[in-house]
Amino acid sequence: MALRLGDTAPDFTAETTQGTINFHEWLGDSWGVLFSHPKDFTPVCTTELGRVAHLAPEFDRRGVRVIGLSVDPVGSHGAWADDIAETQGAEVEFPLIADPDRVVSDLYDMIHPNADDTLTVRSVFVIGPDKKVKLTLTYPASTGRNFDEVLRVIDSLQLTAKYKVATPADWSQGEDVIIGAAVSDEEAAELFPDGWTTVKPYLRVLPQPGR
Ligand code: BEZ
Repeated sequence: MALRLGDTAPDFTAETTQGTINFHEWLGDSWGVLFSHPKDFTPVCTTELGRVAHLAPEFDRRGVRVIGLSVDPVGSHGAWADDIAETQGAEVEFPLIADPDRVVSDLYDMIHPNADDTLTVRSVFVIGPDKKVKLTLTYPASTGRNFDEVLRVIDSLQLTAKYKVATPADWSQGEDVIIGAAVSDEEAAELFPDGWTTVKPYLRVLPQPGR
């Protein structure tokens, strides 16, 4: 069955470009992003891995460990990483899981047989420090992902884990946020003593807390 939000991210031990990794141990207390790409030495995947390599400082700044996966073997990943550095101008410094037996792909339901019965789709899982799945995304092989959006969601997840707020459509770091629907006005007055704007009784807006 597909993984759902709030499920525990399945643990596994796998070969990677940085040696054998036990996933939960490797995550430690950090946030994590596990993302799959269909195949090594393919054009869209090359641009995606290059983009994530460029964004490594942004993931680091948020305390997020990143790990990629495809069904190709570890030797292929290593050779391809050289191509990525050459063509995309960034070294892939995060590990890439080799999953030729599809053990991890099956655990995370990354192979969608009606799309392709051997290659993984473009999945993204954001995992919290509690090892729970906080976000899932599934893209087709033909569409490269927007990793700025992944960072944006992580900003929202980290903010809403800390404060009883929610983030509106297209929110980004520093913009106004919404008081969660489950928070009464009485509780909100304690949590946010500087006040908020009531647009509707169910739509209460305030500046992003903690800035
Ligand atoms: C690509 O990365 O370009 C790609 C990979 C697998 C299937 C189709 C496209």
